[in-house]
Amino acid sequence: MEDLSGIVDELRETLNSCNSLQELNEIRARFLGKKGKITSLMKRISSLPPQERPAFGKRVNELKATAESLIQQAQQRVNKLEAERKLLERAVDPTFPGPKRPVGSEHPSLKVIREILEALVSMGFEVVEGPEVETVYYNFEALNTPAWHPSRDMQDTFYVRGEELLLRSHTSPVQVRVMEKRTPPIMVVSPGRVYRRDYDATHLPMFHQIEGLYVDRHVSVAHLKWTLMELASRVFGEKKRIRMRPSFFPFTEPSFEVDVWFEGKGWFEILGSGMVHPNVLKNVGCDPEEWSGFAFGLGPDRVAMIRYGIGDIRSLVRNESSIYQVTKHL
Ligand code: DAH
Repeated sequence: MEDLSGIVDELRETLNSCNSLQELNEIRARFLGKKGKITSLMKRISSLPPQERPAFGKRVNELKATAESLIQQAQQRVNKLEAERKLLERAVDPTFPGPKRPVGSEHPSLKVIREILEALVSMGFEVVEGPEVETVYYNFEALNTPAWHPSRDMQDTFYVRGEELLLRSHTSPVQVRVMEKRTPPIMVVSPGRVYRRDYDATHLPMFHQIEGLYVDRHVSVAHLKWTLMELASRVFGEKKRIRMRPSFFPFTEPSFEVDVWFEGKGWFEILGSGMVHPNVLKNVGCDPEEWSGFAFGLGPDRVAMIRYGIGDIRSLVRNESSIYQVTKHL
């Protein structure tokens, strides 16, 4: 009788060096397929003399069972190998640096607002806020602003519910709200959003203002001027040049527009200011003979545009990339 164990050894050896599914299938066919070594042994059983058949048949069956279990084991090993190979094909190198995302940064207007508030707070001003939906009284009447003033026109202002409420057109109404509630000395600064019916390269329907108010005994234009000079040098750098031009606002007398000199760029108007009008003081129950004050309203969006070279104010409310585009084209 032949040495059937030779077949098992041969199978073991070939399986050991088998590393792929394809190879394994070939091996299976070579041993157990239609013309496979073990299959042909089975076929031979019928041609043997009857007395030899049972013993031979038994051995061949055992051989077949051994072969099947060996192939089964190899199958498991090869499956693992194939799975690992697939993973590697799609593999990501975890040590490779990931795509860089730029870290977001503070909005230019808010950065300017923060710096100005920091400077004013360090000078003794307290930050207060007022509502964005305001009454006609606080936005205009109490600020001595007559009905003929252009800012009161429907075309210039967003009215809400008839003509009683509106989106505040400036932060000056906060002056009135504060003076109504407190007695001097008052030293407050009020940042926030304001609204006007404008939209072009230099105007937005929503923009920011910072309102300043100081009321005390004997407050004069000199205090206003010193405060503005100090603010300019703290925010824009040592010994910043400013210029005060006479102007008109209904709620201040006298009134000034204030420009800041930017080297290589020229004078830029950044705020309106003045001595609080006696009528405004009277409206909040303050005796103008006893108290006086200065006020100013500053446009931080404009400051941001000058400082960062932003040509179109609308860039401030577009996404980040458009700001850079506009800057580049300057
Ligand atoms: N409220 C004025 C405006 O929006 C700016 C302003 C001018 C504010 C003079 C003031 C001031 O407090 O004194 O145009």
